[in-house]
Amino acid sequence: MKNKKIAIVYGGPSSEAEVSKRTSFAVFNALKGLGYQVEEIEFSRDIPFQLRQKNIDIVYNAMHGRYGEDGSLQGVLEVLDISYTHSGVLASAVAMNKVLTKELVQRHGVNLASGRIYTREDLLPENIQLPVVVKPVSQGSSVGVVILKTRDDFKNLQLTDQNEFLVEEYIEGRELSVAVLDNEGLGVIEIRPKTGVYDYESKYTKGASEYICPAPVPEKIYNIAIDYAVTAHTMLGCKGVTRSDIIYSEKREKLYFLEINTHPGMTESSLVPKIAAYRGIDFKELVEKILFTANVGV
Ligand SMILES: Nc1ncnc2c1ncn2[C@@H]1O[C@H](COP(=O)(O)OP(=O)(O)O)[C@@H](O)[C@H]1O
Ligand SMILES: [Mg+2]
Repeated sequence: MKNKKIAIVYGGPSSEAEVSKRTSFAVFNALKGLGYQVEEIEFSRDIPFQLRQKNIDIVYNAMHGRYGEDGSLQGVLEVLDISYTHSGVLASAVAMNKVLTKELVQRHGVNLASGRIYTREDLLPENIQLPVVVKPVSQGSSVGVVILKTRDDFKNLQLTDQNEFLVEEYIEGRELSVAVLDNEGLGVIEIRPKTGVYDYESKYTKGASEYICPAPVPEKIYNIAIDYAVTAHTMLGCKGVTRSDIIYSEKREKLYFLEINTHPGMTESSLVPKIAAYRGIDFKELVEKILFTANVGV
């Protein structure tokens, strides 16, 4: 594969472009260090032409959010007949939609927080039993996720430009995340935000959270967490690496699946590299394993 031309595609219009840039940089260094012919290309509408012009054989998709994670870029790459990492068109599109994802995994025995869709107009204190979590149906990186505990919190509710919101029962519990690589559960990590809330701030600010891997939960719970993540990964038809977010309620002795991320962050301090490290896979090796899941002859 070292004779192939690899492009890491990053950026895009999503609120997560900055995270994507960091992922791209880390992946670039890893692949370069392993001796691959690799370059970074920032996403733009010219992307098909750029990829063609540069005779790219494989795309390492380092984008997050719109276009890169939702199946759009994947569709372009299918048309151009260029191999790419991570999930394909359909799995990417479904995973971006939290409601569709939940409906699908629920059929396979995965436990969920109860919830339903509200339109912007219906999202009123008198219609909702608190506490709840309000999320845009499709978005990532906790931009737009709001926890409402009291009626007063409604005053601070700043909704994104979407029209429909998923309103879920607020589950008090511990935050777990599970990495799946090549259809196999890699491990479960626990995230302990120092503020108590796992928001954008504590996700991307250095030192704002503590990470414990393997998650110190009962073995039975650990195994169910792996099972939920593998079920979501395989039932959606995901490829390469994914990361599923799950809440563990000790009080109810239950897990609640939240979402599957088809493009988990891949900076050296991201969750998936931490889980891989616990399994003895270093960052470079992990990036290479993901590269190998692109459909190309070696
Ligand atoms: N039903 C819920 N109960 C309690 N906390 C939740 C719930 N849903 C989401 N959260 C919190 O919000 C965070 C972000 O939610 P998530 O569904 O993973 O969306 P995203 O990561 O795409 O923003 C979670 O990691 C969790 O800390
Ligand atoms: Mg999440």
